Amino acid sequence: MTIYEKLQEIHDKAMKQLNSATNRDELYQMKVQYLGKTGEFTEIMKEMAKLSKEEKPVFGKKVNEVKQALEQIHDQCFERLKKNEILEQMKSEYLDLSLPSTAKGVGAAHPVYLVTEEIVQVLSRLGYSLRLGPSIESDYYNFEALNIPKNHPARDMQDTFFVDDTQVLRTHTSPIQIHALEKEELPLRILGTGPVFRCDSDISHLPNFHQIEGMCVDKKISMADLKGTISFFVREFFGSELKTRFRPSFFPFTEPSAEVDCQCPICKGAGCSLCKQTGWIEIGGAGLMNPKVLQAAKIKYPEWTGFAFGFGIERMAVIKYGIPDIRLLPENNLSFLKQF
Ligand code: DAH
Repeated sequence: MTIYEKLQEIHDKAMKQLNSATNRDELYQMKVQYLGKTGEFTEIMKEMAKLSKEEKPVFGKKVNEVKQALEQIHDQCFERLKKNEILEQMKSEYLDLSLPSTAKGVGAAHPVYLVTEEIVQVLSRLGYSLRLGPSIESDYYNFEALNIPKNHPARDMQDTFFVDDTQVLRTHTSPIQIHALEKEELPLRILGTGPVFRCDSDISHLPNFHQIEGMCVDKKISMADLKGTISFFVREFFGSELKTRFRPSFFPFTEPSAEVDCQCPICKGAGCSLCKQTGWIEIGGAGLMNPKVLQAAKIKYPEWTGFAFGFGIERMAVIKYGIPDIRLLPENNLSFLKQF
C-alpha cells in the first residue's frame, strides 16, 4: 500500500467514524484519535521521511487538505450533535403549563368559620357557651314566641322562605333563645349560631347567611350590662381602641332595642369607603329581653331579666378583613378564601 493509499484509507475511515458519532464525547475521542498529537496523522507524517525531496511538499499539501476536510466534517458533526442534544434535553424537560396540577390542594378555614370561632372564643371568656338549633323552624319559634304575631307588620322585617303553612327556613338565630329558655336552668349565658335564610339578595344581602346570637338571663340585668358586654366584645374582636355606640331602634323581642355600631376598624373612625365616610359601622341589633318573650317561655318576670344581641357573621367578616363585596364569601373561590 502506498503512502497515498494509506492517507486515503485514514481519510475514508475517519469520515465514516466522525459521521457515525452519536454524541459529542464520542466525537471528541475520534478527533483525538485522528487529529491529536499521537494520532494517525502524526504516524503517517513520520513515514513522509521516506519520500523524495520533490514528493515531500506534494504529499504534505495532500495531508493538510485531508486534515482540513476532516476538521470541517468534525465541526459540522459537532454542531449537529450539539443541536440534537439540546433538542433531546428540551423534549425530556418539556413542561406543559396548561395541564391541571396533580398536587393535592390544601384547604383553608372559611372566613365565616374563623369569625364564628373567634366570637365564640371571646364571649366564652364572659361565661357564654354555644347552642345550635334546626334550620327549619316552626312559625312559633321563629316568630310567635319572639313576640312577632301573625299579620303583624314586624314580619315584613324578615322576608321569609316558607316550607309549608306552619314551618319556615329560620330567618334568624333568635329561635335558639327560645329553645334554651324552655329547656335550660337559669341563669343562662348562651350563644346561638348557624345559617339563616331570607328571600333577599343584593350587594350587601345574601339569601343564605350566618348569624350569631347572644342571650344573658339573670337577676337585675340592665342596659349597662348589655353595653359593657358588647363594648368588651368589640375591643377584643376588632381592636382595643374602638368605641361602641347604641342607637335607639325596634325589635319585637327586645324593649328597649338598639342598633349597635362600632368605630370602623378599617379607618379607626376617620372615615373610609367601608363606613361610607361616617367613621361608624353597624354590626347588629340588641336590647333588653321583652317581658313578653320571657313570659311566653314561662320565665318569672321581673324576677329574671335579660338582654340579647345578634350579629351577621358575613358582615363581621367583611368589616374585620375589609372584604369589598359580601358575595365573595359564598363563592368558594379558593384563591380568595386562602387569604384568611
Ligand atoms: N334577630 C335579629 C335579626 O335577625 C337580630 C337581633 C336583634 C337579635 C336584636 C337579637 C336582638 O337577639 O336582641 O335582624
